[in-house]
Amino acid sequence: MPVPEKMKKMLLLGDIHANYPALKAIHKYTKPNRFDRIINTGDFTVYSTFPNETIQWFRERKKTISILGNTDRRILRILKGKQLKKPRKKEKRVMYFWTSENLLPENIKYLRSLTEKTDFTMGPIRIGVFHGTCDDADEELFSDAPEARFHKLAKDSPYQIHIMGHSHVPYYKIVDGVHFINPGSAGRMFDGDPRASFAILKIYSGKIGVEHFRIPYPVKEVVKSLKKNCLPDIYTEMFQIGKKLN
Ligand SMILES: [Fe+2]
Repeated sequence: MPVPEKMKKMLLLGDIHANYPALKAIHKYTKPNRFDRIINTGDFTVYSTFPNETIQWFRERKKTISILGNTDRRILRILKGKQLKKPRKKEKRVMYFWTSENLLPENIKYLRSLTEKTDFTMGPIRIGVFHGTCDDADEELFSDAPEARFHKLAKDSPYQIHIMGHSHVPYYKIVDGVHFINPGSAGRMFDGDPRASFAILKIYSGKIGVEHFRIPYPVKEVVKSLKKNCLPDIYTEMFQIGKKLN
């Protein structure tokens, strides 16, 4: 008698930006131990004050698959003694230097062990994990990008599923049979809704299902820590209203 196939469940996270209170809220809501994999599309660090707690959370879990985002790559560049070209705005740069000064050695080592993209298989399905896109780690691929762009990515893709971050916009679309999923930002939303965003991906019998979530978290914990560390007030506003710094 054939053994019944088990449904595979994956927790999709990205763009946490050192917002550990948001990650804790997602943990409490989802109970991560029940997932077959926890995927992180990068940007562990910068703009909130909990990079160590955030990285530690991933280090403590065996079933995680994580990549670097642009903020993490910049932190590693600073730690190598290289100049920080972007961002140019002084008030944005503050958080990069604060983060690089406060990261613990074991967490720096962990970041250094990661790559800019990765892939894995779940049963017969190949899944790519990217910060931007499979072509360009810095590409912000929004859901309303020209369809031609999605067609091109689908045409060249060895993957049935692309899990992506960077745009901070949650979406799910299928183009030419390829599933493009962005879980949104767990810790730094841009759409005026400060709640934490994440997604759950389920695969069963070759069928793919995606559900997005937005949940509240205690923004006041982030605000309190920013103030305690004498960081610019603009960060406080960004987390409270769920908007970009620009
Ligand atoms: Fe990001």
